[in-house]
Amino acid sequence: MTSAPSQHSEYDYAPPAPPPNYTLYWVGISLLTVAFFLALLIWPPYFSGAGASTPPSSWVVFFGRFHPIVLHLPVGVLAISLLIEVGSFRASFEEKWRDQALFVAFVGAVGAVVAVMFGIFLSREGDFAGKSNLRAHQMLCLISAFTSIAGVFARLIYLTSMRKSLLDATRFILFGTAAVMGIGAHFGGNMSHGDKYLTEFAPPAVAGPMSAMDNWVRSFFEKKKDSAKEEPKTVPTPAASTKTEPAKQPEPAKTEPAKATAPAPTPPPAPAAGGNDKLVFQHIILPILEAKCNKCHNEAKSKGDLRMDTYELAMKGGENGSNIVAGDPDKSLTVQRMALPLDDDEHMPPEGKDQPTKEEMELIKWWIKEGASNTLTVSAAKIPDALKATADEQLKK
Ligand code: HEC
Repeated sequence: MTSAPSQHSEYDYAPPAPPPNYTLYWVGISLLTVAFFLALLIWPPYFSGAGASTPPSSWVVFFGRFHPIVLHLPVGVLAISLLIEVGSFRASFEEKWRDQALFVAFVGAVGAVVAVMFGIFLSREGDFAGKSNLRAHQMLCLISAFTSIAGVFARLIYLTSMRKSLLDATRFILFGTAAVMGIGAHFGGNMSHGDKYLTEFAPPAVAGPMSAMDNWVRSFFEKKKDSAKEEPKTVPTPAASTKTEPAKQPEPAKTEPAKATAPAPTPPPAPAAGGNDKLVFQHIILPILEAKCNKCHNEAKSKGDLRMDTYELAMKGGENGSNIVAGDPDKSLTVQRMALPLDDDEHMPPEGKDQPTKEEMELIKWWIKEGASNTLTVSAAKIPDALKATADEQLKK
């Protein structure tokens, strides 16, 4: 029963008398690893679907919306893990708490994986296009989910071998995970609260270095893929500065247009009996906007403060105004945004969403060029031959 001292000296720490059985943890963490890799194969990060017209299933989006709730689990658990680890610098504490430390690390790894998966689901909604923190947030949190799994493996190996060097490795991974997850989570916070959320009320001496750090870290993730795009991105939108607080914008503005909209203030002139007197905006342009844009630009969801579900609101524009500049498609933000390359963060509709066809875009441009009228009838309009088929398609609906 009693282990011989010679055997004992192989260990840096006294092993518990009946060696505890960690089989369940081994199985659990192995299953988690396999599940995570499989999930990433199915929903890879940054994947937004080459078949841009297939929107994510509503289950994916449903779970995705839980991301902001679920993410608190790994963060909270990690804090406990750190506390235990710091206590464990005392050997007697370590000896008493090593099983609890393993349990907490395991729960943290599960939480991290679930949070990351839900985050990837959430990103499928496409509402995060144009949010510059996404790449940094996603990459860092992915890395920290992997390292929290690695941390559990390291801890299990330590508990089996009882080597001090492995305990050190476990600690290194844990503290590294905390740092990476902390910074990664911060960029996630920036995405929902705006880049200036933390620094807004900070004394200037602190705020400066803080945002410099932010930009420095972010540059690692955005340089690689975005360097070419990042620059022009701010050019077409003069109010780029308002972009920094996207989360705050929609609230006050939502009530505003609500007043202005009071159900269809200028009811479009009733089409004269004949089917040919349908209206260009009402029966051709609006249906295109409804199909391709207004899932995000309507009363319930006015992204970028923009609604296009009525003529007045489409003309009024969003945060940056000049959504439609009658007579000048090139100055119209709607046209500019649609014309951006698909992978540009500001491209509309966001990558992965149902895109308008070339002809539909041409129709919108043509209508704007003709004066963006609400009253122009189909029979009076000179729709270019090349676009007639597309226009007819809308009229038939
Ligand atoms: C999946 C949701 C989604 C769809 C679909 C979508 N948008 Fe957007 N749109 C957004 C988001 C989010 C923003 C705010 C972030 C930004 O400015 O990139 C935005 C902003 C805009 C803006 C800038 C408004 C402003 O004043 O800053 C324009 C213009 C715009 N969209 C046009 C369109 C057009 C045109 C379509 C359809 C062809 C479309 N959007 C479809 C999500 C969407």
